[in-house]
Amino acid sequence: MIKIRKAVIPAAGLGTRVLPASKSMPKEMLPIVDKPAIQHIVEEAVRSGIEEILIITSRGKTTVEDHFDRAPELEERLLLAGKQREYDAMLSIANLASIHYLRQQQPLGLGHAVWCARTFVGNEPFAVLYGDDVIVGDNPACAQLCAAYEEYGLGVAGIKPVSPQAIHKYSSLGVEHMEGNRYKINDMIEKPPPGQELSLYSILGRCVLPPKIFGILENLPKGAGGEIQLTDAMRILTHDEGMIGVEYEGTRYDMGSKLGYMQANVEMAAVHPEIGPEFIAYLKEFTKDL
Ligand code: UTP
Repeated sequence: MIKIRKAVIPAAGLGTRVLPASKSMPKEMLPIVDKPAIQHIVEEAVRSGIEEILIITSRGKTTVEDHFDRAPELEERLLLAGKQREYDAMLSIANLASIHYLRQQQPLGLGHAVWCARTFVGNEPFAVLYGDDVIVGDNPACAQLCAAYEEYGLGVAGIKPVSPQAIHKYSSLGVEHMEGNRYKINDMIEKPPPGQELSLYSILGRCVLPPKIFGILENLPKGAGGEIQLTDAMRILTHDEGMIGVEYEGTRYDMGSKLGYMQANVEMAAVHPEIGPEFIAYLKEFTKDL
């Protein structure tokens, strides 16, 4: 049976929707309460059985590498101060996974970022976890997609319905229900102009792809927004051999948008073991006259 061992996390985008926060700080490092978005994503990959991770970065994103590295001065200080719990937590971040880095030299689009991973991936299927999409849930979204790939041997996209107002900012999919939360994808379009929507189902944050996607990406012309779009490559893959859509369980937060970032923080603060009860009390008080 095929086992998905490798994952690519594209995190080289400019993050223009969350400026000015992302001017000198990667949006993937925006915290949800106390943990950067990308740490949630790496943890999801690890919980899904992924063994090797490649993070695609770019200029100005070295804090991502620093975050997953050892921090000897900090570790020593924590030990000296008797802060064993914090020390263990810092060490566990550095030991989370086998993480590799590669720089995308120009932000040419998500499809191009994935294409940069071709040597790392080699000739095996791999997962893609978008660096600004945090998905929270007991059953990791990436694992749900990997299971479908292992079952059908076809590329898999993580899908969810979006609102009619939002579909133009996302991809739109032609889908046919198969069983449970699984769909056969017939077609897809990135950022459909009004009237060209196929459905309100969109690819959100995760996919598992066969290595033949690299050959498709290699020859792909620029698409919506003048970028090399991963959706355009997946459309060709769909027409060639088919793709499966998995409406994954879990709550997705778009950390690349101001609203998504705030929703993630409010909802996760409410269940945070350290500040949860106090935060809920504050929130109730704050919202009572809104
Ligand atoms: P987005 O389209 O959300 O990222 O891509 P963006 O271009 O930074 O968004 P704007 O500027 O706010 O509209 C989804 C993921 O793909 C990465 C991003 O970093 C994000 O994690 N990405 C995007 C790349 O790695 N390279 C690119 O050229 C584009």
